[in-house]
Amino acid sequence: MNADDHSISQKRGEASVGLLTGKTAVVIGVANKRSIAWGIAKALDREGATLALTYQTEHFRDNLEKMRGELSQDPVTARLDVLDADSVRTFRETLEQQWSDRGLSILVHSIAHARREDLAGRFVDTSRDGFLHALEVSAYSLPRVTRALLPLFAKAGGGSVITLTYQGSDRVVPNYNVMGVAKAALESATRYLAYDLGRQGIRVNAISAGPVRTLAAAGVKDSSSALHRVEERAPIPENITTDDLGNAAVFLASDWSRGVTGQILFVDSGMHIMGGYLA
Ligand SMILES: NC(=O)c1ccc[n+]([C@@H]2O[C@H](COP(=O)([O-])OP(=O)(O)OC[C@H]3O[C@@H](n4cnc5c(N)ncnc54)[C@H](O)[C@@H]3O)[C@@H](O)[C@H]2O)c1
Repeated sequence: MNADDHSISQKRGEASVGLLTGKTAVVIGVANKRSIAWGIAKALDREGATLALTYQTEHFRDNLEKMRGELSQDPVTARLDVLDADSVRTFRETLEQQWSDRGLSILVHSIAHARREDLAGRFVDTSRDGFLHALEVSAYSLPRVTRALLPLFAKAGGGSVITLTYQGSDRVVPNYNVMGVAKAALESATRYLAYDLGRQGIRVNAISAGPVRTLAAAGVKDSSSALHRVEERAPIPENITTDDLGNAAVFLASDWSRGVTGQILFVDSGMHIMGGYLA
């Protein structure tokens, strides 16, 4: 290998230093092994956090059952559909039983959904129903779930909330459409929640991820072209992995980021700094 070849893959640390020992963490959004939520769950597990993982449907629960052996612990698993108020309440009750003494330190919100027909073609054609659905699942769910879990955060004396966003929030990415609008709302919600909750010792940040091949990404027409653009034009000409996102989440979840809130942290090989004429 050439001495000038500073590939980021050489620098991906795997060694645990127990940064999250003693903390509890909820991770919402594991669908399968490719899920960003799964990369984050593995990193939090490696650093010593005690985990609760949620699944949306029975199908995803079966996936989780097969994957949980890869963790160093036996996590709490529970169903959570953010569109269903009963499910949110039942989930909170489950956590209150499981972690009555410890409360909650970390919430990772790694979910989004829009109707397939709204992730292709023209944004102007988005239906009211499709718009409301995308915004409710992908943006409103952040304050909704955070609010439900506030009593648990209080018990832990504060904590860290982390959500996942994409640069389609403030730049036009063809076909991303209504999801870009949802991400703009999500990023704004991140700042308003950071303001609301700072006095309770709860920090709220977002990770703006570069493209990753996942189930959600496959729903966006031509999403793989974003992966090629990173390899051709990003400052670091290599796509990020869910492990990279897991390590960034560890930073935001840990006390090393205690002065950081309301931020959008880009983990995208630097793609967002490129000018429009070049990118
Ligand atoms: N993959 C990418 O390129 C990329 C880039 C930037 C940001 N993100 C964001 O990362 C997050 C995770 O997505 P992913 O790419 O890992 O895909 P994924 O398909 O693995 O995860 C999406 C998750 O959302 C969950 N979900 C959808 N509707 C739900 C509901 N009603 N209740 C509860 N859960 C629900 C699904 O069950 C799934 O687990 C999303 O917010 C996505 O927008 C993804």
